[in-house]
Amino acid sequence: MKSEILHILRSQDGYVSGQELCERFGVSRTAVWKTINQLKEEGYEIEAVPNKGYHITACPDVVSAEEVKSLLETRWAGQNIAHFAAVDSTNNKAKRMAEEGAPHGTLVIADEQTGGRGRRGRSWNTIPGAAIAMTLVIRPELPPERASMVTLLMGMAVASGCRELLGLPVGIKWPNDAVLDGKKICGILTEMSMEMDAINYLVIGTGINVNMDEFPEEISQVATSLSIHAGHTVNRAEVICRCMKYFEQYYEAFAAAGNLSGLKNIYNEMLVNRDAEVRVLEPGNEYTGISRGINDLGELLVEREDRSVTAVFAGEVSVRGVYGYT
Ligand code: BTN
Repeated sequence: MKSEILHILRSQDGYVSGQELCERFGVSRTAVWKTINQLKEEGYEIEAVPNKGYHITACPDVVSAEEVKSLLETRWAGQNIAHFAAVDSTNNKAKRMAEEGAPHGTLVIADEQTGGRGRRGRSWNTIPGAAIAMTLVIRPELPPERASMVTLLMGMAVASGCRELLGLPVGIKWPNDAVLDGKKICGILTEMSMEMDAINYLVIGTGINVNMDEFPEEISQVATSLSIHAGHTVNRAEVICRCMKYFEQYYEAFAAAGNLSGLKNIYNEMLVNRDAEVRVLEPGNEYTGISRGINDLGELLVEREDRSVTAVFAGEVSVRGVYGYT
């Protein structure tokens, strides 16, 4: 009931009467009053005026299940939410929940990760209150070799969601880093559980730099945050909800086609190093070429000096800009 009350209060410009809320949820005035008080204790500013009702004037920047649910505009992505103050890694938590039967679309969110993991065995710091650490559980009916395409969908969703919410020119560095002004704002780590020749589940872990003002020396050249570019504090729950909205939309287009054919133009439009020189770092095989965007399978097409085109598969391969991170 708390997230629904929050949703109603947010969606009304004026006051919502206590009576209306009682009737809507079939509960007493005391029960409504208690819920309003809980929300106030959590940092929501709610005016209560006799004979008029309740009016919300300010929301805290929290990523609780209630807050996120009250803003979600999806049918399944993020509709089942588990929020934790601290976990080792939201990916680990999501995997444990998926093993126990968590449904498609379950979203795990944490304020703090004590053992957050990045790609290639790196660690990933999550600063409580300033970053988003979330993992989505999905159960696609796909052969395992198609799983990497789903990772690209989340990169697109983060870029589209942040563009829509903040009007910032967020782009994608293949395969799925979201970037702003040549620096990373988001990293994604997808992990898969297989049974026989089918995917059992995927967990898509997404870390977004939202309200950091500065970064440690060693990553300050390659990392930035949304707030640095927006020039103001950014509401993390709104970012999460926009990402879920676009992920659901992109996933459905992907699932219907079985590949990225219907989405590759949107992806390529957001690809920051399209038509730029890139260095492909494949174990035992390094070369440079011009990035020409992705194909239907999400492979990066790299045009070599002799005009031949190599389709680079995301996995062990890393692609760098010749002049810097992107
Ligand atoms: C990268 O190296 O770019 C990927 C970073 C992925 C970090 C996120 S934060 C939420 C989720 N939980 C983790 O332990 N990792 C991912």
